[in-house]
Amino acid sequence: MSQNSPKKIPVFDISIGQKEKEFIKDCLDTSFVGQGPYVKEFENKFSNFVSCKYGVTTTSGTTALHLALKTVGVKDGDEVLVSSSTNMACAFSIVYCNARPVPIDIHKETWQLNAELIEKKITKKTKAIMVVHLFGQSVDMDPIMEIAKKYNLKVVEDCAESHGVEYKGRKVGSIGDIGAFSFFSNKTITCGEGGMITTNSEDLANKAKGLKNLCYGKTNKFMHEDVGFNYRLPNVSAAMGLGQFNQISEIFEQKKRIDERYKKNLKNVKGLNIPKIDPSTTKYIMWVFNLYLDENFGVSRDELTKKLKEINIDTRDAFVPINMQKIFQKNWNINEKDCPNANFIMKNGFYIPSGNTISNEDIDYVSEKIIKISKQ
Ligand SMILES: Cc1ncc(COP(=O)(O)O)c(C=O)c1O
Repeated sequence: MSQNSPKKIPVFDISIGQKEKEFIKDCLDTSFVGQGPYVKEFENKFSNFVSCKYGVTTTSGTTALHLALKTVGVKDGDEVLVSSSTNMACAFSIVYCNARPVPIDIHKETWQLNAELIEKKITKKTKAIMVVHLFGQSVDMDPIMEIAKKYNLKVVEDCAESHGVEYKGRKVGSIGDIGAFSFFSNKTITCGEGGMITTNSEDLANKAKGLKNLCYGKTNKFMHEDVGFNYRLPNVSAAMGLGQFNQISEIFEQKKRIDERYKKNLKNVKGLNIPKIDPSTTKYIMWVFNLYLDENFGVSRDELTKKLKEINIDTRDAFVPINMQKIFQKNWNINEKDCPNANFIMKNGFYIPSGNTISNEDIDYVSEKIIKISKQ
């Protein structure tokens, strides 16, 4: 451990307020630990916040994605176009439907899906586009919605990393057919584990509610209407989520503070790049603070993150994209060279400590160390 850094600086952390404790205690006091009133309240408040009429909670972001795909009708043999640079939950959820994930490359500067590459990947089997609003940014949705209309495709928005983010004044999760959120413990607001789908379609909401709850029958409960899943979020987790939702504005303020301070500290370092945001389309809400290196930095990403780790500063490498995953190359005929920008970011991108409670002093310390390493 370094003398300058007596403590580890984690890559993320969360702020848990009084409301979370109060609401969870209420679940325990009332014995509503499975299903209960916090589930509905969390669904109503969060879906309303993202400008959707309906919210259906699930057990995770992964199950929200799976439920979203099943709800819009993705089935055996379909293809789903998806951003290559993402959490593999996206590709896995497609495979759970026995459909084929078709990775689309990203823009190198923003790390977001490049809509211009979509049309040439459309085949007779294409059923849906899964856009992933990565790291608190929004994908350019207008061209995607146009393509979806032209080819009659469904649009699923993965908003796991983009709570509250807007595209041209519209909240992500309300633009496509269906949105999917994660409330895992590193997300902007958290239930510990949890997820939600959001939609403005009553039909889709009703279908999702049935599918997530074992498709119980309406007249005879135990005569099931279809093959369903148990993706029910417990009341205790919803209570946590609702408590977190109560402090969402304060959390956004913290994110803004962290983002602005890192940007000010790191904006002029040779070879160190901060992903670009288009403020004319995106209302950005930082999820975690990302960087990527080019040859001018002088040290590779792996060397830099190793040196940071040695002085107790935690980091996370960028995603290994779908096209680089052996399981997909082998089973789904995907070529590793398909997405060169995603591959570049995989090698050069990473994020640095940016959890909600990181102090300005620690932000300055992390920044100072990165700059120092670049000059070695
Ligand atoms: C973009 C994205 N989609 C989906 C998921 C999966 O969410 P969960 O971990 O809640 O299943 C994550 C990560 O957690 C993610 O970052």
